Amino acid sequence: MSNPDNIASARAHSNIAFIKYWGNRDHKLRLPANSSLSMNLADLHTRTTVEWSHTLRADSLTINGAPAGDIPLARVRGHLEALRRRLNTDLHAHVESRNNFPVGTGIASSASAFAALTLAAVAAYGAKFEERELSALARLGSGSAARSIPAGFVEWRAGDNHESSYAETFAHSNHWDLIDVIAIVSRRHKRVGSSAGHRTADTSALQRARVESAAGRLRDVKTAIEARDFERFARIVEEDSNLMHAVMMTSKPPLFYWQPLSLAIMDSVRRMREQETLQVCYTLDAGPNVHCICLAADAPAVAARLRAISPEIDIMQSGVGGGARVIPLMGA
Ligand code: DP6
Repeated sequence: MSNPDNIASARAHSNIAFIKYWGNRDHKLRLPANSSLSMNLADLHTRTTVEWSHTLRADSLTINGAPAGDIPLARVRGHLEALRRRLNTDLHAHVESRNNFPVGTGIASSASAFAALTLAAVAAYGAKFEERELSALARLGSGSAARSIPAGFVEWRAGDNHESSYAETFAHSNHWDLIDVIAIVSRRHKRVGSSAGHRTADTSALQRARVESAAGRLRDVKTAIEARDFERFARIVEEDSNLMHAVMMTSKPPLFYWQPLSLAIMDSVRRMREQETLQVCYTLDAGPNVHCICLAADAPAVAARLRAISPEIDIMQSGVGGGARVIPLMGA
């Protein structure tokens, strides 16, 4: 170990995918069925401190100040096991993790959580790995975490083994002033999480068609982002989200994440674009909340329209975020 203090903190942002990751070719290594692309969310992050200890006999974990339950603890221990193999150590770790976004909003935290955990663990050990290796390591904890290591607009190339499946910046955070206006429809915990969902993706007759056509959408969305062509961007992002949800709905057993309010919001977003010329489009992950991606100038109008749909809708907003980084040690 080359860090005498054995302790470090890191911060990583959450991300929202424009071309989705759904289904794995290798579940253990989280080698995805297709390449994906996302933007980091500046205002949603996880900060994590890792301390490698010579006295601990098992890894311990707190989330937002409270001891973690069995399921998150088991998943973090599994990831620490992979990191121990890479760092060539048998030390155990104490991990403290804090999200700046409220728990139970249904906003995914595994991407920011496993990116921050990976970087903090490596830094606490005193190792210095290249960004692509950190991304590949974060992927072992949660696929989308690979995309929370690099900054800005990020592409995760599927690759065909552990080393070649990592994410890289495609465009910097200041390239395009986009805002994710998140309409929170439900704060309930999702019944079927992403990891279980990835395992059933291949049971849908539509998954093959989605995966085969994903490379074309990825190419098109990159062209649209490069040219800051919102109309083209919107078409592809909505199509990609709809395709992933079509796969989810036709899997065995079927997964329905959309709620009536989600559909009302999707419809309203389309109308904002067509009738009011607001530059906005929607995308949904494995939950009912609707991410409304828009130009910064249109964000106040989009948020106001969403609030008017129903008093049940809460709003969170974020611009494009940077990459994971080591931060000064945070207090307990
Ligand atoms: C729908 O990365 O959460 O958000 O690898 O099992 O942790 P695990 O899955 P996860 O899957 C993300 C699925 C998605 C789409 C996406 O972010 O690309």
